[in-house]
Amino acid sequence: MPSQTLGIVKPDAVAAGRTGAILAHLERAGFAVRACRLVRLTRPQAEAFYAVHRGRPFYPELVDFMTSGPCLPVVLEREGADAVPVMRDTIGATDPAEAAAGTIRKLYAESKGRNAIHASDSDDNAAREVGFFFGEGELAGLWGA
Ligand code: CMP
Repeated sequence: MPSQTLGIVKPDAVAAGRTGAILAHLERAGFAVRACRLVRLTRPQAEAFYAVHRGRPFYPELVDFMTSGPCLPVVLEREGADAVPVMRDTIGATDPAEAAAGTIRKLYAESKGRNAIHASDSDDNAAREVGFFFGEGELAGLWGA
């Protein structure tokens, strides 16, 4: 039974021309790309996506950054129930200075804020975040297939 998670190649990595390298890294790690789209988030969209962080000191900077240029939300799937934890291992710690060697953030992130990629932190959030960006029609036959 496959499981899914949501990744976002963030504006720093898209602007630096790292989108292809990051998707290739994720495919090498065993994920299949099930949906993706280049989007420029509006401020209300970024605020809603990161609503869980509202009130934290980094929230205004996070919203500014996520609306600063195009980003690439991507639905990732792998066999087994562990898409969320495997994805988080694959991207590495939030702060690239603390990320393990060979992780996406160690390779491509500049800082804790400009950190190249987002990933869902639980199965419930993965379902919410996939639904935030992709409609049922785009996922038909894929989500839970
Ligand atoms: P992400 O996985 O997208 O989830 C929330 C984001 O907030 C996180 O990655 C970081 O890019 C950003 N952020 C900026 N500063 C901090 C901080 N001090 N602690 C946690 N997240 C931060």
